[in-house]
Amino acid sequence: MTTKSEAQSDVKKIKNAVSEELVEKSKEDVGEIKKNENEEPKLTDLPGIGPAVSAKLENAGVYDMMSLAVMTPAILSDAAGVSEAVARKAIQASRNLLNLGFVDGTEYAKKRESVNYITTGSKNFDTLLGGKGVESRAITEAFGAFGSGKTQVGLTLAVNVQLPIDKGGSNGKCVFIDTEGTFRPSRVKQIAETLGTNPEKVLKNIFVARAFNSDHQILLLDKVSEMIRGGEPIKLLIIDSLTAHFRAEFSGRGQLADRQQKLNRYIHNLMKIAETHNLAVYVTNQVMANPAQLFGDPTTAIGGHIVAHASTYRIYLRRGKQGSRVAKLIDSPNLPDNETIYYVTEAGVVDEA
Ligand code: GTP
Ligand code: MG
Repeated sequence: MTTKSEAQSDVKKIKNAVSEELVEKSKEDVGEIKKNENEEPKLTDLPGIGPAVSAKLENAGVYDMMSLAVMTPAILSDAAGVSEAVARKAIQASRNLLNLGFVDGTEYAKKRESVNYITTGSKNFDTLLGGKGVESRAITEAFGAFGSGKTQVGLTLAVNVQLPIDKGGSNGKCVFIDTEGTFRPSRVKQIAETLGTNPEKVLKNIFVARAFNSDHQILLLDKVSEMIRGGEPIKLLIIDSLTAHFRAEFSGRGQLADRQQKLNRYIHNLMKIAETHNLAVYVTNQVMANPAQLFGDPTTAIGGHIVAHASTYRIYLRRGKQGSRVAKLIDSPNLPDNETIYYVTEAGVVDEA
């Protein structure tokens, strides 16, 4: 028979064991990232939208409430095979559910408070971006010549997003859409290892997809929405490179308008995903020689004004002196144009070599 004090000491032992386990868990930092509990409303929650209609909409590429909310009744009626009256009702309901429209200042401030940041790994680089790194609900575009570090910044972010918030991460997973076959698992593991995190776990939390052409690249975005709806806590979306396929496929002068239109729609969708799911989007972009520029660095980002205007933060990357790298923030609406020095080492992006 156990005495009361023995029983109490057993309870104590169990408590200690549990708390030790918790400490061990927190040491791992990047472990099992839990799926989202508070799922967003589904299309079938709307009046007039049953499973059959919802399936039709999915076939038409409409997966989430936001995509539906921005449709017109005529287009929705066409895509879903419902009457315009039903379509109008569903759109109205989705807008109510999403609370589209104006919000007051305090609500706006609250929304801003929910913004997450992901450290680049370099304090200097983070400072350039306003202090904490790459921001959710925003598109950060890195452009620069080949070998300037665009992909390396992306790979480092893919690791860092998984860190807890107090370590500069967003406690989330990453989607890496790779258009050029430059994703390197071994490099990710190396960066994760130098950070002291578990490389296998880090790699498991990055969903990689190779996009074989621009249409495929576009389709993959729907897949991302689908994964998030399924509860994957994706907090960073990387497109490396945003423009390469578009540039290769629409090469003639006469195709420029078509390319820009397609690219415009794509970026718009990226912004929508960033906004709806409060995640950060990091895209890379090549440069082309700009014969019109006579002085300074004669390079211009691909995609012209369309990419430039959609990106919240644009950074120009180039090699600096003695193995350093230079990042320059360009045309930010709320931050001064500025440049800073960082390095790419075994640990990924860092302040000092
Ligand atoms: P493109 O995709 O070709 O346009 O170039 P990019 O801007 O994506 O260049 P990327 O990020 O691939 O940078 C390549 C450079 O990063 C290399 O030239 C190296 O200097 C550096 N780098 C890549 N891997 C490592 C590594 O494991 N260790 C170190 N120290 N540097 C690395
Ligand atoms: Mg690259």
